[in-house]
Amino acid sequence: MSEPAIANLYSEQRTFPPPESFAAQANANDPSIYEEAEADPEGWWAQHARQLRWMRDFDTVLEWTPPHAKWFIGGELNVADNCLDRHVDAGYGEQIAFYWEGEPGDTRALSYAELKDEVSRFANALRGLGVGKGDRVAIYLPMIPELPVAMLACARIGAIHSVVFAGFSSQALVDRVDDADARVVITADGAYRKGNVVPLKESTDKAIAATDRIETSIVVRRTGAEVDMQAGRDHWYHELVSGQSTECPAEPMDAEDVLYILYTSGTTGKPKGIVHTTGGYLTHVAATQRLVFDLKADSDVYWCAADIGWVTGHSYIVYGPLACRATSVLYEGAPDYPGKDRWWEIANRYGVTILYTAPTAIRAFMKWGAEYPQEHDLSSIRLLGSVGEPINPEAWMWYHQHIGGGNAPVVDTWWQTETGGIMITPLPGITHAKPGSAMVPFPGVKPVVVDDAGEPVPRGSGGYLTLQRPWPGMMRTLWGDDERYRHTYWSSFGPDVYFAGDGAKLDEDGHIWLLGRVDDVMNVSGHRISTTEVESALVDHPKVAEAAVTGRKDELTGEAIVAFVTLRGAEEGNDELAAELREHVAERIGKLARPANVLFTPDLPKTRSGKIMRRLLKDIAEGRELGDVSTLANADIVEELSKSSAGGD
Ligand code: WTA
Repeated sequence: MSEPAIANLYSEQRTFPPPESFAAQANANDPSIYEEAEADPEGWWAQHARQLRWMRDFDTVLEWTPPHAKWFIGGELNVADNCLDRHVDAGYGEQIAFYWEGEPGDTRALSYAELKDEVSRFANALRGLGVGKGDRVAIYLPMIPELPVAMLACARIGAIHSVVFAGFSSQALVDRVDDADARVVITADGAYRKGNVVPLKESTDKAIAATDRIETSIVVRRTGAEVDMQAGRDHWYHELVSGQSTECPAEPMDAEDVLYILYTSGTTGKPKGIVHTTGGYLTHVAATQRLVFDLKADSDVYWCAADIGWVTGHSYIVYGPLACRATSVLYEGAPDYPGKDRWWEIANRYGVTILYTAPTAIRAFMKWGAEYPQEHDLSSIRLLGSVGEPINPEAWMWYHQHIGGGNAPVVDTWWQTETGGIMITPLPGITHAKPGSAMVPFPGVKPVVVDDAGEPVPRGSGGYLTLQRPWPGMMRTLWGDDERYRHTYWSSFGPDVYFAGDGAKLDEDGHIWLLGRVDDVMNVSGHRISTTEVESALVDHPKVAEAAVTGRKDELTGEAIVAFVTLRGAEEGNDELAAELREHVAERIGKLARPANVLFTPDLPKTRSGKIMRRLLKDIAEGRELGDVSTLANADIVEELSKSSAGGD
């Protein structure tokens, strides 16, 4: 096979040590934490597990029969009890758990005591409908307080939730309901999106008609839109909870009982139901919340601006923050509604201290211009996080400077739906961060970058990212398909080596740089070049707002690089600028990385979660018939692009 990714094509030299004042107060500021965890990983995780409230203590930390792990064997606990009752019992009932901000501007603040009561009422209602331990409940809700309430109510009674992102189609809901065999779905009369109402109940009705599994639907009134309620099947949430008792004993759960299923897309059409369990998952998200986000329960206002429909929201809006008694912001809407400064207005109003978002959002803010954050005082922000894709150094620098005021550490956190929690990341009080690098493993985690033969690569080289030691938040299997679990993740390099599907390189200091999915790695003249590195070089050009790069087949070089570029502000694309950008990449990386084609476009095709659809761009670049694009957030851009690329060669 071909040689691993070219080493240090584009190596970022700047480093950002933690400011002294930050390090002095940080939850982790002694580098010996790494040695301590390395000396006894199981003991390290057990020590974090013991910070939770167990109804029965565990007697064995780990049983590892690759590829199946069991953590905290014999232990019993309840996730909702840990996220709510534990804090209320300790006297923090009055503390705000969520400052919720609706898109139209309505607000709600929920204290830990209020959240516990609401969760208990709804848990009783679910029990009343016959939902019990182990039953699957589909949740198809927008970002309203009832979404975390529904998840926690399931957790309280031991039901397994399967949250389906509200931006997904009704067909996606059907697929997930069928696969998990869910009998109950929780939805809303509608969802707000940039001033419009998305008819969620209608989608749900369509889904229910297309599957024979759903017996009960529960509908939250959010927009007041008129909806069809079918007697006997559909129930209003507010009617169900009114009159319910706020007493609802939390079900003792085995550490290995399933907490939730979350579907993610794989290489085939059928979504994969990632299974997460109770004790290990909660331990992992709580430990990372505390150490990576340096969370101070008494003073921070934390905001993870993801959607709960994705794993980032499960782990770092709901379970991690609540396990650590955080006060969080929960925002329903879009970042540019009604204005492009909506986030900064919210951040300022609540005095947000920690912000966690994705590079794609950061690049959108860059494109809109620094004047929007500048209109608001963001001096409360003391820590920034990034997740979801490699962050190009320019976006890192912009984030650091314009949102973090030049002194808030930035943590670039690598992880996946499958890993449950953060795996590779700086620790903000210890690590000297390099813009664009996720840097080092979280203590106790063992990533190894390997070559085609599965051998560790030397420093300065690239290869495939693997994980070679079990961790508590790891998925346990794929729902109903253990064979696919084994085959997808544990067969490429050996039965006890987890293959993440990402390319990575180790720099000369041994720091880890994520290169994107390996299916996004191009091979040009026998050299493997990451789409990310070329994108990063393009975005480094002052006229470029965002870039997506893909390979297309080329007779001479195997693959040739095609770059799709959106420009900043009023810039116009033309041949001269295309040539300039090709040269710019050649300068930053080397001639071998120079794009064969540069295509200008007003927007890039993206999934509803904001990931650029590179597969689609590849189809466009190679002039192929385009498949179904209905899951895109902006399907109309695809037609424009295919027209422009037809003459673009
Ligand atoms: C990518 C999101 C580089 C990666 C939590 C991974 C990243 C996939 C980073 C998982 C990062 C996530 N740097 N790449 N900091 N974080 N990724 O399951 O390709 O939606 O495999 O989980 O996102 O996406 P998922």
